[in-house]
Amino acid sequence: MPSPRLLALCGSARRDSYNRRALAVAMTGAREAGAELTFIEPREFVMPLYDGDLEASEGLPEAAARLQQLFAEHDGVLVATPEYNGFFTPLLKNTLDWVSRPLPDGSNRPGTIHLRGKAAGLVTASPGALGGIRALQHARLYLANLGLVVVPEQAAVPAADKVLGADGSVADDRTRSMLEGVGSAVCKLATALAKRAD
Ligand SMILES: Cc1cc2nc3c(=O)[nH]c(=O)nc-3n(C[C@H](O)[C@H](O)[C@H](O)COP(=O)(O)O)c2cc1C
Repeated sequence: MPSPRLLALCGSARRDSYNRRALAVAMTGAREAGAELTFIEPREFVMPLYDGDLEASEGLPEAAARLQQLFAEHDGVLVATPEYNGFFTPLLKNTLDWVSRPLPDGSNRPGTIHLRGKAAGLVTASPGALGGIRALQHARLYLANLGLVVVPEQAAVPAADKVLGADGSVADDRTRSMLEGVGSAVCKLATALAKRAD
């Protein structure tokens, strides 16, 4: 089978995001396991806060339709999200809520059709002591509700401001291996799911 294609989505748009750094390490793990990666730059997919009236009058935002198309072309997704008060971020939720909506012509109904049965993996990073781990259980449930198959492997990086360098460095091998392990697990699951669909 050809290399599985994975999207990499960050729930923080912040330029110096620690989650973006964590995601980059997970992407390396996926690449080394044989996947092709497409990084979604949050600032290139800006969407309004979901509003049913806006959807009824204007349809899907152009960025949401673009992202739906990208999901349709990929076999899975690596997600990094900051923890905000114990939850994953509104940016991640709003983005995927729009992506889950059907097109006005109904051609992709249900709206989650391009997500269902695809592999997903989660990582998080925080300057705090728990590393964002509380956000992951909610994010895992949310991704599963969208029909994604979330690998059991996950990674939370505490003290991320000290552990994850802006140059891509990771201060300890255990953290690197945990983050890369999520990427590798998503690649393997995406491959297995694609074989099953044949
Ligand atoms: C509204 C808000 C709530 C936050 N809540 C938490 C939290 O519950 N746990 C935590 O570890 N950090 C929390 N933080 C701190 C974030 O982990 C920190 O801002 C981090 O840098 C965000 O991720 P990023 O660097 O990828 O943007 C919170 C930050 C904000 C803005």
